Amino acid sequence: MTEHRFGHDAWTERKLDALGRYLVEWRKIFTANSKAQYFKTLYVDAFAGTGSRKNPRLDVGDASNQQNLFTDNNLDVSVPDEYRRGSARIALELASPFDRYIFVEKNPAHAAELKRMIAEDFPALEERCRVWENDGCDIMRELCTTHFDWNRWRAVAFLDPYGMNVEADLLWRIGQTKAIDLWLLFPLGMGVNRLLTSRGVPHKAFADKLTRVFGDTDWENDFYRSPATGDLFADAPAGAEKHTDFDAIGEHYRKRLEGRFAGVAPRAKVLTNSRGNPLYWLFFASANPVGAPTAVRIANYLMAD
Ligand SMILES: C[S@@+](CC[C@H](N)C(=O)[O-])C[C@H]1O[C@@H](n2cnc3c(N)ncnc32)[C@H](O)[C@@H]1O
Repeated sequence: MTEHRFGHDAWTERKLDALGRYLVEWRKIFTANSKAQYFKTLYVDAFAGTGSRKNPRLDVGDASNQQNLFTDNNLDVSVPDEYRRGSARIALELASPFDRYIFVEKNPAHAAELKRMIAEDFPALEERCRVWENDGCDIMRELCTTHFDWNRWRAVAFLDPYGMNVEADLLWRIGQTKAIDLWLLFPLGMGVNRLLTSRGVPHKAFADKLTRVFGDTDWENDFYRSPATGDLFADAPAGAEKHTDFDAIGEHYRKRLEGRFAGVAPRAKVLTNSRGNPLYWLFFASANPVGAPTAVRIANYLMAD
């Protein structure tokens, strides 16, 4: 079995708990609501992992450690003690499964392990599943325009990269489908804040990446000012200094999502490490104008903890 170690702290559990609870509520809508029953349903996991993960900090011999991990969330642990459910397994274990599952995983060993897990543990769902060993953003971009008729399909997509893989052009495409609900891990502390260099404006490679992630260059004016005059970045690029914080960066990003999606949860889940430093913000955005108010209400509720 290929072990997948990621997510050093409870923040991973909080992220997956929100996703899992959302998927349960979403499937309820698509089974109970007669209008929603018209649609076929798809779950896309574009950075899918192996289906489970080994918690790097969990010492299985330490009962107090296990107590903390298992009481902090609502996850039902159905894999051996130290292995926890990953997003793929959470989606496959739903009492009411999706009509179709697409998992994308770039690491060949992870993709192979995921295929093995589906075949062995979910044989009844195997026909509904596709595992693509590929780039999650490329496949997601393709799915927005090909393979699915978005008049007939509704989807939940989970974009859960380690780093700054997800750029704005992909998000805007997802918004245009008017059919996809998106859970997105935004690497605020792990990536974006590091590129927003403190001493002077970011050099060109960093600046270009930030512009592709945010979708425009407004971050320059919003996050940098001249120390002498307080002028905006554009007036004094040479001496500009960083004037922002995690909350402002997160809000800046949320506003951009609002411009491109039918609805965005007002709250994001701030995922911090054990020292309280924000690593990621978990965002929810719905592209579906009809479903967005309900979807956002559910997601916003799940963000609070
Ligand atoms: C944070 S983990 C995802 C964990 C998964 N959502 C879960 O809960 O089990 C990120 C995964 O994305 C994979 N990955 C990295 N870059 C990728 C890419 N460009 N496209 C698809 N998968 C990628 C990694 O191999 C890793 O398995």
